[in-house]
Amino acid sequence: MNHTGTLLLETPRLRLRPLSFSDAEVMYTSWTTDMDVVRYLSWRPHTSLDETKRILSYWISNYPDPKFYIWGIQLQRGQLIGTISIHSISDPFLRGEVGYALAKPFWGKGYVTESLQAILDHAFGVVGFNRIEGHHAIENPASGRVMEKCGMQKEGLLRQYYRSNNGLQDAYLYAILRKDWQLSKGIF
Ligand SMILES: CC(C)(COP(=O)(O)OP(=O)(O)OC[C@H]1O[C@@H](n2cnc3c(N)ncnc32)[C@H](O)[C@@H]1OP(=O)(O)O)[C@@H](O)C(=O)NCCC(=O)NCCS
Repeated sequence: MNHTGTLLLETPRLRLRPLSFSDAEVMYTSWTTDMDVVRYLSWRPHTSLDETKRILSYWISNYPDPKFYIWGIQLQRGQLIGTISIHSISDPFLRGEVGYALAKPFWGKGYVTESLQAILDHAFGVVGFNRIEGHHAIENPASGRVMEKCGMQKEGLLRQYYRSNNGLQDAYLYAILRKDWQLSKGIF
């Protein structure tokens, strides 16, 4: 694969960009402490601004790694509203997994769908992944709908697959293959 790291990606409404240290306060106040955002996520809500800063420092120190993909989701000329990532990458199997979180006031406006579509275009069109997966808690169907709108297919139920802030979690597995993405783009 031709890994690029976390390059700036632009969509009509959004800038997907590397995070910087100055993002700590908005991350802390907008979503990393909000139980409604983290309820079905595997990380605990942050308990101090220092914790957010420590995580941010770790991510920033990883940006030189071309296999490290965590974008901040920023409104064009506006505020930072969430993050989206590709993680759990397997080079031999040309595979990766997506994850995302968005501040609550911005839910339901198509922002994560728009972000995920841009990430998939980059993953298949530039990096050369063959399969991108995602999973979501079965009680969190909005996340499944986002993946479905981006052409990902539900492949099955993963029983007690991970531990969220809501306990051991049954999850649905979604995936899209390079050939599905090519078909959706009219590339044959
Ligand atoms: C889940 C989440 C990522 C969705 O992001 P978003 O930007 O609000 O999503 P979009 O607006 O792009 O699309 C949401 C879709 O889900 C649908 N939806 C919302 N609530 C739903 C529900 N309870 N059941 C089914 N569909 C639902 C919306 O109607 C929309 O579909 P539509 O365009 O066909 O109407 C966002 O709410 C979030 O960050 N939640 C907290 C973190 C999280 O759960 N991350 C995912 C972990 S797997």
